[in-house]
Amino acid sequence: MFSSDDLASLRSDAVSGAVEIIDQTLLPHTLRWVHLDSLEAYCHAISAMQVRGAPLIGISAAFGLAHAVAGDPSDAGIRQASERLLATRPTAVNLRWALEAMAQEILPLALDKRAGAARARAIALRQADIDNCAAIGDHGLALLRDMPRGDTLNIMTHCNAGWLATIQWGTALAPIYKARAAGLPVHVWVSETRPRNQGMNLTAWELQRAGVPCTVVADNSCGQLLRSGAVDCVIVGSDRTAANGDVCNKVGTYLKALAAADNNIPFYVALPESTIDWRCAGGGDIPIEERDPLEVLAIAGVDAAGQGLEVNLAAAGTRAANPAFDVTPARLVTGLVTEHGVYAASVEGLASLKDQLQGLA
Ligand code: MRU
Repeated sequence: MFSSDDLASLRSDAVSGAVEIIDQTLLPHTLRWVHLDSLEAYCHAISAMQVRGAPLIGISAAFGLAHAVAGDPSDAGIRQASERLLATRPTAVNLRWALEAMAQEILPLALDKRAGAARARAIALRQADIDNCAAIGDHGLALLRDMPRGDTLNIMTHCNAGWLATIQWGTALAPIYKARAAGLPVHVWVSETRPRNQGMNLTAWELQRAGVPCTVVADNSCGQLLRSGAVDCVIVGSDRTAANGDVCNKVGTYLKALAAADNNIPFYVALPESTIDWRCAGGGDIPIEERDPLEVLAIAGVDAAGQGLEVNLAAAGTRAANPAFDVTPARLVTGLVTEHGVYAASVEGLASLKDQLQGLA
């Protein structure tokens, strides 16, 4: 599974250095690869959400910076390009993490060594993301195997935390892909994820391509499903997790966590270490992206002929607000599934992960 670059959200040519991404704004109706050939194109890809999902945003930014360094390897050039990339989206901390990892690698080098080192570092970060997500899948699979269930293991997820949000595997979907490959009978409740519908447009598309049984549900039906016994566990991703275990993820995650807790259903968050913001003491410090209200007031799709169209839903002049993420307090999270293992969502749990990482260094 996933041995081919066909099932990767971003591919880079080892010889020419060319980078292509899947334009996710066109899914599920059109699968189109877009060549990124300027810093502007990278910034646009992230801000317009052609690429999205915390880990993929970070890896895209790393390649964007590598592209910029090839044109201008000076300290000032690197700083300016980093600032432009960092300004594309505010919430996913993987963006800052990747840019800092790149700068750490290239700034100490002589100017003529920087372009090659930047490209090599971006390629290494991409490969590490694949390996980390595969490891998250293994740790998550161990949890799923032990979970009480009937004939089928019913998992609820929100937004898209699959391979489209990373490079391959995904975070929340990695354990599900591994479970399917291991022969566990899984079924996924996919919450549509208004206003941009990443659940319906991306997660359902991914799961269907992989042959994983899934059912899309309106966001508002998730409380009822969680109450009715139709869900054995919830797994979501994260855009930024604070040092106390508070989890920021796509708006609507918090409501699922509340309903899961009220019904004693395990609520897991799957994330790579790069999504933990050690400088952020609690969820209240996480910047929440406020997006265009038009995303709430209109809906995009295709007509019967497959042509893209946007439909206005509200009366002219209707006001809307569009916070794109929310924070789930650590007390509602059963565990954090990382590439290093499963940790308690708490100051102590994350401190033990930090100790483990320092031991590895
Ligand atoms: O606005 P998006 O589509 O970038 O939001 C993505 C999410 O909220 C994902 O759940 C999160 O980034 C985890 S992806 C592995």
